[in-house]
Amino acid sequence: MFSTKAHRTGADRMSDPNWWRQAAVYQIYPRSFYDANGDGLGDIKGVTAKVPYLKELGIDAVWLSPFYPSALADGGYDVDDYRNVDPKLGTLEDFDEMAAALHAAGIRIVVDIVPNHSSDRHEWFKEALASPKGSAARERYIFRDGRGENGELPPSDWDSVFGGPIWDRITEPDGTPGQWYMHIFAKEQPDFNWENPEIREDFLKTLRFWSDRGVDGFRIDVAHGMAKDLSEPLPMKADLEAKAHGTDGFADGSHPFWDRDEVHEVYAEWRKLFNEYNPPRTAVAEAWVHETRRARYASPEGLGQAFNFDLLQSDFDAASFKKIIADNLVAAKESGASSTWVFSNHDVVRHATRYGLPKGGSVAQGTNAAQDVTGGTKGQDGKGWLLAGAPAEELDVELGLRRARAATLLLLALPGSAYLYQGEELGLREVSEIPDAERQDPSFFRNPGVEIGRDGCRVPLPWTADGSSFGFGAGGAHLPQPEWFKDYAVSKQEGVEGSTLELYRTALRLRSELQTDEELEWVETGNQDVLHFSRPGGWHTVTNFGSDPVELPDGDVVVSSGPLDNGKLPADTTAWVVRDA
Ligand code: GLC
Repeated sequence: MFSTKAHRTGADRMSDPNWWRQAAVYQIYPRSFYDANGDGLGDIKGVTAKVPYLKELGIDAVWLSPFYPSALADGGYDVDDYRNVDPKLGTLEDFDEMAAALHAAGIRIVVDIVPNHSSDRHEWFKEALASPKGSAARERYIFRDGRGENGELPPSDWDSVFGGPIWDRITEPDGTPGQWYMHIFAKEQPDFNWENPEIREDFLKTLRFWSDRGVDGFRIDVAHGMAKDLSEPLPMKADLEAKAHGTDGFADGSHPFWDRDEVHEVYAEWRKLFNEYNPPRTAVAEAWVHETRRARYASPEGLGQAFNFDLLQSDFDAASFKKIIADNLVAAKESGASSTWVFSNHDVVRHATRYGLPKGGSVAQGTNAAQDVTGGTKGQDGKGWLLAGAPAEELDVELGLRRARAATLLLLALPGSAYLYQGEELGLREVSEIPDAERQDPSFFRNPGVEIGRDGCRVPLPWTADGSSFGFGAGGAHLPQPEWFKDYAVSKQEGVEGSTLELYRTALRLRSELQTDEELEWVETGNQDVLHFSRPGGWHTVTNFGSDPVELPDGDVVVSSGPLDNGKLPADTTAWVVRDA
């Protein structure tokens, strides 16, 4: 019955050009995954050491957040050198060793590419600062003269995503106050000038460099950035806001620096390069764009796949989940891509926390750039969707985890790729108790008292219930781990029936056995709080978003996100039922 099972195992699977379409991709935030050398920072050798864990988990690919040399002004998304490994994390040889170990375990590798901006320590930016106005070196970035009599005012009044002006003024080599450069994110992240062919060439070189080293795919950071209209006079904040708050957001591509049509010329070039490889290299766009424009990023002539963050921004609610799933499956089909599904990543509050907070309740201050990127709106209903630092007293820990498990089991049954974030398989929730002095995220520092930042989902993983940094490494942990982490340690959950880790393992194993083509059919339940869909081969998924237990369809319950109640599916629970098709 499950015809694809055979080609999803063994060596064949590694040469399948469509491997990405329904892959379970596990995101590793390398500095917080596992620290092999005991310096308090996770590293590449740490990933290699945990390949058996990853294999046992049952994922198809890992996506590594940036591991490139970086001052960590933005968690590594400030890259000094795109074709190297941060010496704090290892060497290129360590990378090769990790790639070989992952591939030997049947796990593919996706790496993060950050093309919108470099770090201010990149050799090109240093050269730009040391070179005169109008020089070729300055043309690699976006330098402008300031306004005002002596150029003392920024070229425009735009705000950066992390807060504060989007322009910073430099001191010219002769010591005089000089030009301004643009940075959509932190000031340590100067934006590249993508009209400059040298930038385009260099990124092709980078993509080739990693593809040649065996990287299977790329996650493209801020994929809707890069292309910019900076023709004079630059519009002012009020002009941008007028566009941002229009009913359609930026659906027409007219924003000067987000989601402009020209960016797709770059991706068409990248696609040609990806297709030179066998199997072709894959890519997924991080593009916070109006839903009508997402398909362009996901097209086969472009990057091939794009994240949709719709479920991630939704309450735990049957009607809303159903609409999002249905809409995205249609959109994916139209674009020729498969859909993507994600609840947690390194930018947002973990879903075990989000679902434990009162609906529409106190959800403050984003942890993520995205809120501005999508057009200044803060998620549906005008509420912030990022929930960082939500008051601990409002959090129902048990409810949050129960719903997170139910939601994940639903997600893993959907056609398309499932993107999982390290630690969610342990049921980790957001760490809210990080002292200000130990925070690292620039959004915290640039918006004092407003944003709490994204550190709470980036705390090093607990591998053991005791020991230095709960087994993260022989040294400390670069972000403080709370005491409650011990209860969520891998060692506490391995082999324990009903643990979140075992739930993920079971679900991922079954997923790879049950998965066939990308069809989904809704089954009418007559209950607005219960979602039921089936996949070819008799695989049924039922989620109870309501409060009373409900009957399950006939068949074998192969896994459920929580115990059943006399054979019934309790509140906030998902079950997979297999029956003869
Ligand atoms: C993306 C990344 C985020 C980073 C930003 C700037 O949104 O996911 O972590 O801060 O880009 O590179």
